[in-house]
Amino acid sequence: MDYNECTAKNLTKKETEYMTNKQPKWLDEAIFYEIYPQSFYDTNGDGIGDFKGIMEKLDYIKELGCNAIWMNPCFASPFGDAGYDVSDYYLAAPRYGTNDDLKQLFEEVHKRDMHILLDLVPGHTSVEHPWFKESMKAAKNAFTDRYVWTDSIWEEPRGMGCIRGISDRDGSCAVNFFSHQPALNYGFYEPDPEKKWQQSMEDAGPLATLEELKNIMRFWLTMGCDGFRVDMAGSLVKHDPDSKGTIRLWQNVREFLDKEFPDAAMISEWGEPDKSLEGGFHMDFLLHFGPSHYNDLFRCENPYFASNEKGDVSKFVDKYIENYEKAGRKGLICIPSGNHDMDRLARNIKGDNLKIAFAFLLSMPGAPFIYYGDEIGMRYVEGLTSVEGGYGRTGSRSPMQWDHSPNAGFSTAPAEKLYIPLDERDDRPTVESQMADENSLYQEIKRLISIRKNHKALQNRGEIQFVYAKENTYPFVYLRSDEEEKILVILNPSDREVSFACNYVPKEMIYSFGGNILVSDGKVTVPACFAGYYIV
Ligand code: NOJ
Repeated sequence: MDYNECTAKNLTKKETEYMTNKQPKWLDEAIFYEIYPQSFYDTNGDGIGDFKGIMEKLDYIKELGCNAIWMNPCFASPFGDAGYDVSDYYLAAPRYGTNDDLKQLFEEVHKRDMHILLDLVPGHTSVEHPWFKESMKAAKNAFTDRYVWTDSIWEEPRGMGCIRGISDRDGSCAVNFFSHQPALNYGFYEPDPEKKWQQSMEDAGPLATLEELKNIMRFWLTMGCDGFRVDMAGSLVKHDPDSKGTIRLWQNVREFLDKEFPDAAMISEWGEPDKSLEGGFHMDFLLHFGPSHYNDLFRCENPYFASNEKGDVSKFVDKYIENYEKAGRKGLICIPSGNHDMDRLARNIKGDNLKIAFAFLLSMPGAPFIYYGDEIGMRYVEGLTSVEGGYGRTGSRSPMQWDHSPNAGFSTAPAEKLYIPLDERDDRPTVESQMADENSLYQEIKRLISIRKNHKALQNRGEIQFVYAKENTYPFVYLRSDEEEKILVILNPSDREVSFACNYVPKEMIYSFGGNILVSDGKVTVPACFAGYYIV
């Protein structure tokens, strides 16, 4: 593919206005930090992080350069899936604090010119949610249609897994994820007329579920949160192979938000920006599942950003271009450093290669998302017993390593009471040691963020054009631009010097790690383990 053809097409002024006007302005420069509240900072000594702990660490996040937060679910829950099994959408989980504490957190965030997204789980509740308990009753009531039920215990909802045999109601209830997470009912895209229990999106039950979802959003937005990261956003409407029903549902939510909360930001866990941005989300993640080839970069047998020169970035780039062409002007395609569901970045990418990976993450379009602890290279903790439904994900959710005091400064609780055991190794990275070391990953990321902030072309809505991204080859080169500047980004994670032919003449270096390039006769030679940004 000729990458020079790959800039987004020229749009008419009207098209651009339509597509960009409805974006909250603050997203243009947003750089997010994901907080897993249970593991961030514990102020009451119970071994679990809390809202007050987050408040105490806001200045740390701001100093790093992040100006926005996504906090994982913090609502009442039996915590069978770390809070993604909500039992009361209107109540903060007592272990983190009260609704008033949460409100105070919003205020503290805003005082610092920052924003915060809550995590909305619209697809399922916990089995302990009072709605589900009502829904299990044999007698018809207001919650009978709140979940997806078949009308006989002997019939299972096709392809969904189910809960059955625990209710007086004669039926099986579809599950959305774990078997204790019953699926909320937003209807079927094309209900099978033979199966009367399959309701359409326009039936009263699904419409009531959708209205309740809006009530939940209204409640927290009114209290002061700035929007939501939406869990499994692409899976709400059932038997919806092209997601047309789910897209329609989110467009309905978009109308509501545009009317009542135009500054609220929405990011989907969907992994298909062409669909989710069409549905009215402002941002979508590229993820470890779905068609994006995100895993090729950091989390496969031979990740591109490892040093062994065996990776391949080309499929990721091809898919990225496809998404960018289809959706890039409607919203932001976001590439996270990791999250609570993936292996820690540092599990496969080691040493200075982490710096090259961040030179990539912080120079791509879309809002960057840094998973707590990735900024200091926190490691995946091997061999842990599952905590709160974490299973293999538990090792990526261990307590934040703040300093060299007991429990790495995370909590004053006895070590065996910590939510998840800490990385036990003596050389575990800490914020304290990395802040003191000019050559640390933390300091590199801080530099990269400040460079991004000083160059609009590198920010969330700057254009991208891929210059060199060939199959099984290094380096990886792209051009970021806005009306004022063009910046060439050159990345070589491999442990060998490489070169490429280049039509652009690098004029001024604004960032480099690992030396400098050599330019001669249109050929650019790039040192091993190198990242550089050049104005051209
Ligand atoms: C995606 C969340 O990120 C994950 O942690 C959770 O287990 C599932 N959705 C189910 O809600």
